[in-house]
Amino acid sequence: MLKKSILQLILKWQTMTSLDEFAKNKLKSLEKHSLRRSLKITKREKGAKSLRAGKPLISFSCNDYLGLTHHPEVIKAAGDAALAYGAGAGASQLITGHSPLIKQLEKTMVEFKGTQSCAIFGSGYMANIGIIPALIGGDDVLFIDEYAHACLWQAAVISQAKTFSFRHNDTDHLKSLILKHRSDYKHAMILTDGIFSMDGDIAPLPELSELAEKYDLWLHCDDAHGLGVVGSGKGAAHHFSPAPNVHLQMGTFSKAAGSFGGYLCASKDVIELIKTRARSLIFTTALPPASLGASIAALKIIMEDKDLCSLPVQKANIFTKQMGLPPAVSPIVPLIIGSSDDALAASKALEESGFLVSAIRPPTVPKGTARLRFAFSADHKEEDILELCDALKELNIMPLTESS
Ligand SMILES: Cc1ncc(COP(=O)(O)O)c(C=O)c1O
Repeated sequence: MLKKSILQLILKWQTMTSLDEFAKNKLKSLEKHSLRRSLKITKREKGAKSLRAGKPLISFSCNDYLGLTHHPEVIKAAGDAALAYGAGAGASQLITGHSPLIKQLEKTMVEFKGTQSCAIFGSGYMANIGIIPALIGGDDVLFIDEYAHACLWQAAVISQAKTFSFRHNDTDHLKSLILKHRSDYKHAMILTDGIFSMDGDIAPLPELSELAEKYDLWLHCDDAHGLGVVGSGKGAAHHFSPAPNVHLQMGTFSKAAGSFGGYLCASKDVIELIKTRARSLIFTTALPPASLGASIAALKIIMEDKDLCSLPVQKANIFTKQMGLPPAVSPIVPLIIGSSDDALAASKALEESGFLVSAIRPPTVPKGTARLRFAFSADHKEEDILELCDALKELNIMPLTESS
């Protein structure tokens, strides 16, 4: 018996490649620093509810801001599209995947956003890593907000452009970088989130647009968290009056629209160029019909129901008021905890009390700012939010302050 298990151990050791060893050691090191991530099976249900290991939870961790993932009209549209057009697209948009549904979705977005044209991508991530390298290259320069989403950073790397990061939402810092570096490069672009995914604040788009106009930069705004919930549903630029000129308005249908897929709204010429040069649009199969059908139906609801669009921010503000936090401008509210260990412990304690609130840790957020990220939905009931606040207070989960 002992002989057999020693033999098995030797065999296991012998079959371990340097790749396995690398993975094992890397995981061990991540674990040691509370940075290992694990995927948990979660069954999402109607009304901002989720089931984990059979335990019902009220979820404050989902980007389904309007509850449209479970809206009967959206689900029906997904089913109808699959019945009419099949389960998959069958090819990339360039070959036979540019279906009547994609055309309809493009048209809907053009009408909603008031731009000349639109291109549809497989996801928001794919949109960014396709758009930016298609327009910007090695002779060019990018100025990126330090808190911009991971896929904008990835796009910057792929583009091979010189990249300067400016302090979060600090337009004075951006201006100083532009004055110092802009003239050394051919083309230049500013990259920012519209609503910042881990902080919930909004980019100063009017000031960014002014700098873009004055110094000849192209402004790219990733509005993944703005569509459907700010600016009467039209997104972050429409939070401001008049809406500033944003040359490249990118976003996703995977959050408030409750479906899947990415988009870019821009001028006719820019979109034509993107459709012929963006590798993540050309060299990948088009979105499945069900996702396209769902997005079209969701947009119809978003365009018609402004009251629904205003609910997530209203719900977020029930929370901020109760917790003594600054008012929310978006459905995302962070509670900065500090260490990854403490953020994980807080998330676990909340889960035991019936609330699903994910801990967000570095490298997604800067070191020392691990946090609980609350995402509010039109589906949350006021009493759900008040109970969450009571639980936070009972568990003594408080935001990190300068004196703490
Ligand atoms: C700001 C931002 N941009 C892009 C994405 C990616 O969008 P998608 O999930 O459609 O790939 C996300 C979401 O994960 C995001 O938060």
